[in-house]
Amino acid sequence: MTRAVVATGYGGPEMLTVVDAEPGVMGPYDVLLEVRAAGVNPADWKAYSGAWTTDPLKLPMRLGHEAAGVVLAHGREVTGIAAGDEVIAYPAPGAYAEQLVVPATSVLPKPTTMSWEKAAGLMVAGVTAVHALTATHVGAGDTVLVHGASGGVGAMLVQLAHCRGARVIGTASPANHAYLTDLGATPVAYGPGLTDRVRALGTITAAVDAAGTAEALETSVALAPKGRVATLAGHALGARLGVHLLGGGEGSDPGTEVRMAARGKLLRVWELGKLDVRIGATYHLADAARAHRAGIDGHVTGKIVLLP
Ligand SMILES: NC(=O)c1ccc[n+]([C@@H]2O[C@H](COP(=O)([O-])OP(=O)(O)OC[C@H]3O[C@@H](n4cnc5c(N)ncnc54)[C@H](OP(=O)(O)O)[C@@H]3O)[C@@H](O)[C@H]2O)c1
Repeated sequence: MTRAVVATGYGGPEMLTVVDAEPGVMGPYDVLLEVRAAGVNPADWKAYSGAWTTDPLKLPMRLGHEAAGVVLAHGREVTGIAAGDEVIAYPAPGAYAEQLVVPATSVLPKPTTMSWEKAAGLMVAGVTAVHALTATHVGAGDTVLVHGASGGVGAMLVQLAHCRGARVIGTASPANHAYLTDLGATPVAYGPGLTDRVRALGTITAAVDAAGTAEALETSVALAPKGRVATLAGHALGARLGVHLLGGGEGSDPGTEVRMAARGKLLRVWELGKLDVRIGATYHLADAARAHRAGIDGHVTGKIVLLP
């Protein structure tokens, strides 16, 4: 048995509790991990918020999608992975736990220079950013507008767009403008007048929305060419505006292949020193509810990570 965080009902973080649970059933192609850190993402609290489903069969709901840890054991058909290996696991459903069984295909070696926290916070944001930049064909010479650029996904979008030779204009609250400048983006405040402020900064050739607001989407379609706008968070309005819908949900491109392939690329870019993961806050696994409240309140800049 292990300790794991579950949502016992649909609602807010008050629904979270820590329970004794099975780490999972280990089959011949699986790996058992001792989790050292688990990444927190907005999808984790949206999953039990009731926004996506209220199916009682999904309760109690294990949480988390990404982790970093040490291999404790593996199934008999697994090759190239040994007990004691330090790894990143993504996809890793149920990652909010002390121990976890994942398919061997989810496991990648953790770079020795990468902390547990950064390793746990890299993949969801990173593969999402790669998917969005691929869907909008961002490359050398582009000027990309990134909404929510100071967020976990946004910071990845900024850094990876630079790697592709693009210039980035990023929206954030003024308190995060210095952070965006450090990342190499031109910061611009979101809020009334956004379209005019961005227009004054140059011609936009692609736009990625990681904010999900009407303002972000309407500014994007006003300034970027048709076919080069994607949203990660505003699917209902995005569908009406005809932009690329990425991730889960009806009519949305899950990008499974591009996201899985992106994992290795992210580690290579990390090894080249061209990518970093800012850690905004860490919480003990048992404090998952507090971690979610901080994420929902939006006052943490950088990834939130749980430490078992
Ligand atoms: N579709 C997918 O596959 C996928 C995958 C991952 C994430 N997502 C979604 O993408 C979104 C961002 O995720 P994340 O992990 O980056 O979240 P995050 O780290 O919490 O960042 C959210 C960012 O949004 C910014 N923001 C807040 N209010 C805003 C507004 N009115 N206009 C513009 N920006 C605003 C914040 O900037 P300031 O702090 O500077 O105000 C913050 O940096 C979430 O909705 C998440 O569910 C989708």
